[in-house]
Amino acid sequence: MNPIQQFDTINLDLLKKYGKPGPRYTSYPTAPNFSPDFTDEDYREEILERNRQDPPPPISLYFHIPFCDTLCYFCGCNMMVTRDREKIAEYVRHLKQEMDMISRLIDDGRPVEQLHWGGGTPTHLNPDEIADLAQATRERFRFADDLEAGVEIDPRGMTREHLEALYDGGFNRISMGIQDFNEKVQEAVNRIQPEDMTREVIEWARDVGFTSLNIDLIYGLPFQSVETFDHTLDRIIDINPDRIAVFNYAHVPWMKKHQALIHEEDLPSPEEKLRIMKHTITRLNRAGYLYIGMDHFARPDNELARAQANGTLYRNFQGYSTKAGLELFGLGITSISQFPGMYAQNVKNLKDYYQRLSEGRLCTQVGIRLTDDDILRRDVIMQLMCNYSVNKRDVEREYDIVFDEYFSDALTNLEELRNDGCVEITADAVKVVGPGILVIRNVAMAFDAYLVDTQEHPLFSKTV
Ligand SMILES: C[S@@+](CC[C@H](N)C(=O)[O-])C[C@H]1O[C@@H](n2cnc3c(N)ncnc32)[C@H](O)[C@@H]1O
Ligand code: SF4
Repeated sequence: MNPIQQFDTINLDLLKKYGKPGPRYTSYPTAPNFSPDFTDEDYREEILERNRQDPPPPISLYFHIPFCDTLCYFCGCNMMVTRDREKIAEYVRHLKQEMDMISRLIDDGRPVEQLHWGGGTPTHLNPDEIADLAQATRERFRFADDLEAGVEIDPRGMTREHLEALYDGGFNRISMGIQDFNEKVQEAVNRIQPEDMTREVIEWARDVGFTSLNIDLIYGLPFQSVETFDHTLDRIIDINPDRIAVFNYAHVPWMKKHQALIHEEDLPSPEEKLRIMKHTITRLNRAGYLYIGMDHFARPDNELARAQANGTLYRNFQGYSTKAGLELFGLGITSISQFPGMYAQNVKNLKDYYQRLSEGRLCTQVGIRLTDDDILRRDVIMQLMCNYSVNKRDVEREYDIVFDEYFSDALTNLEELRNDGCVEITADAVKVVGPGILVIRNVAMAFDAYLVDTQEHPLFSKTV
């Protein structure tokens, strides 16, 4: 069993001590290490090279839809607010153009096993645009029969027709942003989302046929306390989603300027935030949810929990996933593609995106080819993030190294965490134990060869 289920052992002072900026390790090396020296030509070569694998691996497609109707002041996503329908339609046209280019490069035999639309807000497309984009994707790629297709939805402004268009387009799972039902919190972050409206959209979704529901919440928002958040949790438990993500609010106003609209004096204290987190884990555990890791909870019969139990859980840009071995192709601005030895990220604004496509070029702006050391460290970090332990002998066999020698610096970096009862280091394994599960980012950081001191202008949000 994942040791975090022993939630009574959570020591708040200890968590506070480890609350420093750190990556979320949806990739390793992390995005700030991607370089403009990696070009669209490099990306093209990598795609062609991957077709030559025998058999060529199945694929996962990610579409980034950056538009939102209104600005949530806390938002840390890559998004832009617009109500200009032509601007949105123009983007959809260009996504189809990018799909044309990418699909022509990918071997026809490679099935799409996973599809994800993220944002921004994919449901800010209207139902016709949703149907059109989904149909265009089907025409250009071969979908596997057991395609896992998820979409991020925002119930505000949604109709049943949006959901029908998504379902008819092949989507079977939804991820809904709720954040917090408390009205005072909603006002402070400029996201008014009445509970009735949210429940109605969930009812429609279940009625239309969606089989998997994830809900996003955030703790650490203005005016939240254990009491107020508990009330929201009551209602979430009543809604009974399959998975729940409870994100730690990443307040980085030096990177996301609009977050300055949130008054810092209204934010809960670090102690209160930790109490909310501890309480949330306790509450959701009691309601039958398992803590998977890094803010994610799932019912024990959910595929994430099952994958964790049998050691096949995997982590990529969309968070935890059960589909290891897929190659991820990102489409749209800011999206990231991932093959075993490479990451490539698209240009970040519409002007550059349209310019590239008009030149008939792929849209890569930065990327990285992984060295052998990167691949080894990524493997260790991902094992820690997903399974909370690394078997030294397995790593030695796979990479032909002596673990304790190769990672002597990392093991020294782990000393403090070990003394604090967060990791156990034996002759055969590194194991994350007790409160270590909650400071997993800090554990992973010990193995990160790229980390420099980022205290002055941190590139990352706080780990706890
Ligand atoms: C792209 S949004 C989800 C879809 C849709 N735009 C919505 O908000 O309902 C992804 C999720 O990221 C989370 N999020 C956004 N900004 C965040 C921040 N600064 N810190 C932590 N989580 C954040 C929210 O929980 C949000 O639901
Ligand atoms: S949280 Fe979602 S709806 Fe709100 S601004 Fe960010 S992406 Fe848009």
